[in-house]
Amino acid sequence: MKRTLIKNALNDLAPGGQVKLAGWVRTLRTSGGGFSFLAINDGSCLATIQVVADGDLDNYESEITHLTAGCSVVVTGELVESPAKGQRVEVKASEVRVLGTADADKYPIQPKRHTFEFLRSQAHLRARTNTFGSIARVRNRICSAIHEFFQQRDFLYVHTPIITASDCEGAGEMFRVTTIDVGAPPRTDDDKIDWGQDFFARPTYLTVSGQLEGETYACALGDVYTFGPTFRAENSNTPRHLAEFWMIEPEVAFADLSDDADLAEDFLKHIFRAVLTDCDEDMQQFNKWIDKTLLETMTNIVDSSFERVTYTEAIKLLKAANRKWEYEPAWGNDLQTEHERFLAEETFGKPVIITDYPSTIKPFYMRLSDDGRTVAAMDVLVPKIGEIIGGSQREERLDVVLERMKAQDLNPDDYWWYLDLRRYGTVPHAGFGLGLERTVQFATGMDNIRDVIPYPRTPRNAEF
Ligand code: 4AD
Ligand code: MG
Repeated sequence: MKRTLIKNALNDLAPGGQVKLAGWVRTLRTSGGGFSFLAINDGSCLATIQVVADGDLDNYESEITHLTAGCSVVVTGELVESPAKGQRVEVKASEVRVLGTADADKYPIQPKRHTFEFLRSQAHLRARTNTFGSIARVRNRICSAIHEFFQQRDFLYVHTPIITASDCEGAGEMFRVTTIDVGAPPRTDDDKIDWGQDFFARPTYLTVSGQLEGETYACALGDVYTFGPTFRAENSNTPRHLAEFWMIEPEVAFADLSDDADLAEDFLKHIFRAVLTDCDEDMQQFNKWIDKTLLETMTNIVDSSFERVTYTEAIKLLKAANRKWEYEPAWGNDLQTEHERFLAEETFGKPVIITDYPSTIKPFYMRLSDDGRTVAAMDVLVPKIGEIIGGSQREERLDVVLERMKAQDLNPDDYWWYLDLRRYGTVPHAGFGLGLERTVQFATGMDNIRDVIPYPRTPRNAEF
């Protein structure tokens, strides 16, 4: 007999049929009347299903009454209408087979509230809790919504390399990839490390972004997107930074900054709508335990339009705000999280797209505007998180991009293939990057980004 998912048993199946369920015990309650209630979860949904095990089952005394949180079981029985409140059906077990026990004195995940900090130290077991199960299901729905959105719009999914020789963001925050013996590296005549003898015969790194390679495909095939892991060796210990995170990067040919902003807005709304529609049980849970304004915020975002202002206007608004900043806002400096959150939370009370940043604080590939001092950049800011998307129209003019590279001390020879796009059939194009974990954080209301990826990588932390 095939196993039935608990979500199907609870929501779809009519009482009366036989089912076989498999999962982990959350609680056991033995009644005086010679039978026991088991609450079983299999991860297919938040809820547990109630199993009634009768005292005449042959392993009742020897096994069933000893079950504790974390034990794994296979239950066969009849799905019956439940007399208990708040549940439509339960299972009257004809067999409860115990697959694995879990020593109650040692099993770390007890049926009580654990702190997120403690659960981070038990990351291999935390998916067995309500919150982390919900996060995993919401994250999954977000990922499927992402593919859905682009596939419906004829974007091609392209795989850009994870090992790369170029620093897309030019921020020098890359992890080196090497097979050289770090204890005894080969040396050149002038005693430098001889990277020519490394695996790729050149210095290589984990990618910080698939954009540059994504652009090459957009400039051949039109609309493309990447969705993959990216790595940043920035020493930021914040609730919004990971050293390894997933990024979605669409790249669109024949598009300008305003097309890019439209796409970003439609994209975020599509994702949040999917979560609201299909993850109701999990979202109710987050709204109840994590952030009581979550559903309201999410619904508002889906129904309203994003604000759009230039960086220059944003600086004016921040300066005019009667408020003590940790960093004083000033034209020419990057926006800090406190500024971003203020704009999204206080000034506008909804997502805001900031455009036209000073060229000096943005990477070489962003298109220089006619004013000569700003670039066609955009960041999408949302309440509580700040920046969730960063993007731009790309500089398609060879002479201008060469100037910008020079200004940022980059060697054009290292980017010869990227520059070829400007030499052969150049077109206006634009794109952006959405951080997956910040999206999951926003959709779940979770405070710390370490809790929305199964195994977070942060400075001094790569356990599991
Ligand atoms: O703004 P970023 O650095 O943009 C790029 O990498 C561009 N190449 C994207 C493009 O135009 N194709 O990063 C994009 C997004 C950010 O807005 C943020 O959501 C996320 O990636 N992000 C991080 N998420 C978690 N931890 C970090 N350390 C992150 N750095 C960026
Ligand atoms: Mg950015």
